[in-house]
Amino acid sequence: MECQADIKIQSESKGSLYLVHFIKKYKYLDFVLNELESIAEIFGVSKENLYQQSRDSINIHKNPLVFGQGDSIESMLQNLKKDKLYALLEQRKPLKFDVEILGKTISTKEKVEIIERFGFLPFDPKIDLKNPEIIFKVLQNTKDDQWYFGLQIASNREERETFFHKYHLRTRPYLGPTSTETQLAFLMANQGQVKEGDFVYDPFVGTGSIALACSHFNCIQYGSDLDYRVLHGIGVGRKNENVKNDLLDSINPQYDIFTNFDYYQLRRPEILVMDIANLALNHQNSGPIFDSIICDPPYGVRAKSKKVGISKSKQQKYEDRVNARKQQQQENQDLDMIAQENQEIEEVEAQEHITMMEQYDVQKLYYDLLEHASHLLKKGGRIVYLFHTDTSLPEEKNKFPEHPDFEFICSSENNLTKCRARQLITMRRKL
Ligand SMILES: C[S@@+](CC[C@H](N)C(=O)[O-])C[C@H]1O[C@@H](n2cnc3c(N)ncnc32)[C@H](O)[C@@H]1O
Repeated sequence: MECQADIKIQSESKGSLYLVHFIKKYKYLDFVLNELESIAEIFGVSKENLYQQSRDSINIHKNPLVFGQGDSIESMLQNLKKDKLYALLEQRKPLKFDVEILGKTISTKEKVEIIERFGFLPFDPKIDLKNPEIIFKVLQNTKDDQWYFGLQIASNREERETFFHKYHLRTRPYLGPTSTETQLAFLMANQGQVKEGDFVYDPFVGTGSIALACSHFNCIQYGSDLDYRVLHGIGVGRKNENVKNDLLDSINPQYDIFTNFDYYQLRRPEILVMDIANLALNHQNSGPIFDSIICDPPYGVRAKSKKVGISKSKQQKYEDRVNARKQQQQENQDLDMIAQENQEIEEVEAQEHITMMEQYDVQKLYYDLLEHASHLLKKGGRIVYLFHTDTSLPEEKNKFPEHPDFEFICSSENNLTKCRARQLITMRRKL
């Protein structure tokens, strides 16, 4: 499983301690603990064994530490688990030491001095700074004054080193005005605990950012959206001019939601044009089929919540046309002309399918989402969704929706402006 963690240190056997270090500047820092807990649960690590040491580091299991821990460099070296460390050193693989003091920049000279403290080890290590097979990490957490020494098993300090870098919106062939940002989409997929073979549904799929993240974990993806234009690449969605790809052009020169899946060689999702207010997915017949529902519902100015209906002015125009047609029918018995007019009206109605919208109350939309989810989700399945809050609005408007069939698991907050934030809500369908 891949997560947004910055550094992980792991020992080899069961009962090991993992140290995970997140960089503070990380945009979704508030999300990562919840993400880690979700991932840990997939692997059967209980939440109780996962505790927060400080904002910068998390330990899974208190005991034993990777190779050594202590409140000073001396005590860390004294506590070294030599049998595990020596077994690794005996392999004589090219290695390097990496030293990091959290919240402090140290000179190369200071780093070397720390590394030289390991000179007592009875081996002659093969140092290779460029292509090491083993990276030993010495890390001091200045907040709790703990020193750690371990084997680095993963690190992604730069975004380009991350597994999700290739999905960046900058280089994605098909985009829309509300395409969900890549890191957020992956955080959501992990909150949903998406695994290979899972049935996953996004009822506001748009250009498919969240669906792509879930599909990366080899699920069977379903999606729906009210707006066929965003699905089909008509007007709302657009081709990303940064991406030049003859093969994609030959498949469909007018890019659409499937283009992204073809580009990343992921299984294409099953897509429906559907209004969440009028769910066409007939759960009475299908029953609860999804393992998770993960979505970014419409909000505010960029993605207005709408549902299929007829607005007042459109309704008036439509009625006027119908009345005029009736009147003409009486006056004009020419059947050919009537047939032609009927066809014209059908064509206009077809064009207006997407524009005949009513405003959809946001609270009702969330209610509908949870209500449908309660029928479509398997017991124990997760629903993960974004919920926007605005502290300038009355408190009740900022309360995320609840449903008797769902238990709340967690929420993470991402501040957008002084007043506005979005919450990532995770709930579980009760067993
Ligand atoms: C915030 S965007 C989701 C963006 C999407 N995750 C993506 O990466 O492109 C919300 C989407 O909800 C769709 N939508 C709005 N009202 C809807 C409704 N009543 N039923 C279904 N979809 C709706 C919009 O067309 C829009 O694509």
